[in-house]
Amino acid sequence: MENFTAYNPTRLHFGKGVTNLLGRTVKQYGKKVLLVYGQGSVKKYGYYDQVIEQLKKSGLEIIEYPGIKPNPVVEDVVVAAELGRKEKVNVIVALGGGSVIDSAKIMALAIASGKKAWDIMKNRVILRTATPLVNVLTLAATGTEMNNAAVLQNHETGEKIGLVHELNFPKSSFLDPQFTATVPLNYTAYGIADLIAHALEAYFGEGEASLTDRIIFSIIKDAMYWGPKLLNNPEDYELRANIMLDATLALNGLTYYGTKGGDWGVHAIGHQLSLLYDTPHGASLTIAYPAWLKLQKNRVQERIKKLGKEVFGTYSVEDCIDRFIKFFFSIKCPVSLTEIGLDTQHKSEILDQMNHNKISGLHHKLNEEDYEKLVNSMM
Ligand code: NZQ
Ligand code: ZN
Repeated sequence: MENFTAYNPTRLHFGKGVTNLLGRTVKQYGKKVLLVYGQGSVKKYGYYDQVIEQLKKSGLEIIEYPGIKPNPVVEDVVVAAELGRKEKVNVIVALGGGSVIDSAKIMALAIASGKKAWDIMKNRVILRTATPLVNVLTLAATGTEMNNAAVLQNHETGEKIGLVHELNFPKSSFLDPQFTATVPLNYTAYGIADLIAHALEAYFGEGEASLTDRIIFSIIKDAMYWGPKLLNNPEDYELRANIMLDATLALNGLTYYGTKGGDWGVHAIGHQLSLLYDTPHGASLTIAYPAWLKLQKNRVQERIKKLGKEVFGTYSVEDCIDRFIKFFFSIKCPVSLTEIGLDTQHKSEILDQMNHNKISGLHHKLNEEDYEKLVNSMM
């Protein structure tokens, strides 16, 4: 077991009707709110109206920044932060999935510091404070609602990167599974895949602790058990609730106890696909994970064996990898580049992108030779 420090200050409100407490919670940070949301789903399905009602009931003044894209871009954060500074907002409310919340996290740092969003992402500035952030989550996947990470794309520099910073922890997050009932089947599946990928990134990180391994296996098994049931019955409250809790616990620090943190090599590969082809995050991971596991199977043989035994009851490394591929396939996530319309003509473009960012895991390093093998394997 490795030495470790645990810290998570985010208050989580989970369950039916929890947003009744939203106004009161937000109000303690001030009167003027920057409300951030995505490209329309929250209005279409009525979540926006519910949130506005709660905020207005508490006498809050609301400034809006809509339009955050899936695979969010830094430009939106720049414009929203300017608006937030000009309007002197006291608090940010993010209503949406990971893209909206991640964007709001960087807005919170940019508004409070007056620094440029991309300088913040690149760790070029010292940050002392953030505008308080309160979230209403509408999609179970990333875990951003209870962690200190934010991921943004910059097409000018050709990067999709994450910033991990203590000031990124949201003050509060409201998780009502009813708000996720309308997530389309494809994004529901990508969310299930994403949370499993988070558990795997933690599992293949540096160091291991018996209990933490068991927590990781439980998260994966729970998601694999309830996920397919949810996809057959997407409006079922209990099923949505189970997957929502799986997603939060898969990346809120719980899976790092007794380790030095996750590997994140597969996420680095996936981010290159999202940058180039706007591939949804979860789909980029179901393409990249099989290739990564095949590449690393000799280097991490014992870890894969343990995983296979505990999750699938198999003693074979190959069978374990195959079971993951079959699971992703069964929930209709792509497991190859071909399935998202790419072929060998795209190979050099993907390799250039990987080289440009010199992508790697934090624990299991990747080099140029690995890139070539990975891309061939993903085809
Ligand atoms: O834009 P709208 O119209 O709101 O539609 C969204 C979007 O098209 C839609 N949606 C969200 N909630 C809905 C809904 N549709 C119907 N009903 C609802 N209740 O779903 C689409 C995807 O939304 P998005 O926020 O992009 O999805 P997700 O939550 O998967 O977030 C993905 C982003 O998070 C980053 C990813 O890289 C990606 O950029 N990640 C953030 C992490 C973190 N901060 O810890 C870790 C992850 O590994 C990940 O990298
Ligand atoms: Zn992820």
